[in-house]
Amino acid sequence: MGAVAAAWQHLQRLGQSAQGDSISALFKDETRFARFSLQADGLLFDYSKTLLDDTRRAALLGLVQAAGLEPQRDALFAGARVNESESRPALHMAWRAGAEGQFAIDGQDVMAPLRATDARLMAFAKAVRAGQVQGAGGPICDVVNIGIGGSDLGPAMAVAALAPYADGPRCHFVSNVDGAHLHDCLAGLDPRRTLVIVASKTFDTLETMTNAASARGWMQAGGGDLAAQFVAISSATQRALDFGLRAEQVFGFADWVGGRYSVWGPIGLAVMLAIGPENFAQFRAGGAAMDRHFCTSPLAENMPVVFAMVGLWHRQVLGYATRAIVPYDQRLALLPAYLQQLEMESNGKSVTRAGQPVAQPTGAVVWGAAGTGGQHAFFQLLHQGTDIVPCEFMVAAQGHEADLAHHHRLLVANCLAQAEALMRGRAASDVLAMLAAHGVHGAEAQALAAHRSFAGNRPSVILAYDRLSPYRLGQILALYEHRVFVEAVALGINPFDQWGVELGKELAQALVPMLEGREESDGKDGSTRGLLRFLQGRAG
Ligand code: F6P
Repeated sequence: MGAVAAAWQHLQRLGQSAQGDSISALFKDETRFARFSLQADGLLFDYSKTLLDDTRRAALLGLVQAAGLEPQRDALFAGARVNESESRPALHMAWRAGAEGQFAIDGQDVMAPLRATDARLMAFAKAVRAGQVQGAGGPICDVVNIGIGGSDLGPAMAVAALAPYADGPRCHFVSNVDGAHLHDCLAGLDPRRTLVIVASKTFDTLETMTNAASARGWMQAGGGDLAAQFVAISSATQRALDFGLRAEQVFGFADWVGGRYSVWGPIGLAVMLAIGPENFAQFRAGGAAMDRHFCTSPLAENMPVVFAMVGLWHRQVLGYATRAIVPYDQRLALLPAYLQQLEMESNGKSVTRAGQPVAQPTGAVVWGAAGTGGQHAFFQLLHQGTDIVPCEFMVAAQGHEADLAHHHRLLVANCLAQAEALMRGRAASDVLAMLAAHGVHGAEAQALAAHRSFAGNRPSVILAYDRLSPYRLGQILALYEHRVFVEAVALGINPFDQWGVELGKELAQALVPMLEGREESDGKDGSTRGLLRFLQGRAG
């Protein structure tokens, strides 16, 4: 048996022996918080409210080492073709590397062309923000980013997260091919003072190209100046030119930046327009600082590595199928959706890099919502449901609203309280005592105690920071990117491709002529045929 298989087997045994252990009991060790939390450059990662102990942690570390994390990380940063099924490197880190960054592929520097595009991008952002880019009706006041997946979730999330730093044009995001999305976004915007960004790595995504064409029609009909008010961001620059744009209107990036890793480069243009190039540089600097930490810190003190170890412990060893992301930071409300793509598109795989069936369950189902809202929706299940859902909380020490500091204290209290409640639960004896204090005794109290008590012992981790600045957001996103990478290394899978999404796209294209009645649906299954008949009959 190889070292990796042996490491997994050892972990499975440790997982079985953890059944029945109590997280609360682990805190008899007064030093637990210090020993099971990490700090790096202003971020605190607390993983003490889990069933990890020294032995289990050492076994997880043994696994990632045996899987070859360090050489694979070095290969990633060295520009090796780590995305084997697409024969590409994954060098998104180059876009946040700053002036000292040095990245090359096959010995060829990639920084010079990247910096040239970046200089154009920054000059454009500055000009728009300064009112020097004139639409047909005057300076640009609104920006509509048309993109989907990584060409939407990253910039939309970052613009919302960094709202206190926004002093540029208002940014809006359209992703869904549902005409309602574009319609509702454009309603109320001035086609003569709106900038449209068509963001698509491939420039052939059905949703984006359909929305782009409709937005172009809207702008033309409304008297906008397409030459000044339309730009494209893509790896397929020729397709953008074929769409009718001039070279000056197109910002390119290489195909070695995956869609879900692309917010750091030109796809981040909307963010740059909203918060300005200087703040955007801070965002990138946070990501670059996390890259340095990932590359240089010993594995046992390496935040992405330890974060991944916690994820592997919960998903692969203990078998918890999902994890909840709950930022106690309203402006991170879109972060769960962003991380959903990052984690599920990256690690939702069934075969190893060598194409063999993977021996472990792979990516967890990632979901969540901002706290405190989520508390009044899905936390009931987290506390008393039959499935254990590890939670990943985030919280800042301060908000940006100095006049509402008391709100922030309540927010922090709620975050810490939920983590504590998940761990402690509520014993039947406590419920009986509470009921007795309210005069409820005997059989009635016993019956109620069954409903009102719960065992707790549910794990959570907390990521804490001073406040959500551009730099902190950059650190957090890069932390998650590398965490996903480390998990993929442990599983032996390629986190940088996404072949599973292709079939649905092809089938959708093929269904359009059937919906339009131009083609028969004979070859389709009975369910699809029945649904087509029902929907065509009511299409209006
Ligand atoms: O459908 C999945 C996907 O390929 C994502 O990986 C990507 O972020 C998204 O579609 C959008 O792709 P594009 O930027 O090429 O339009």
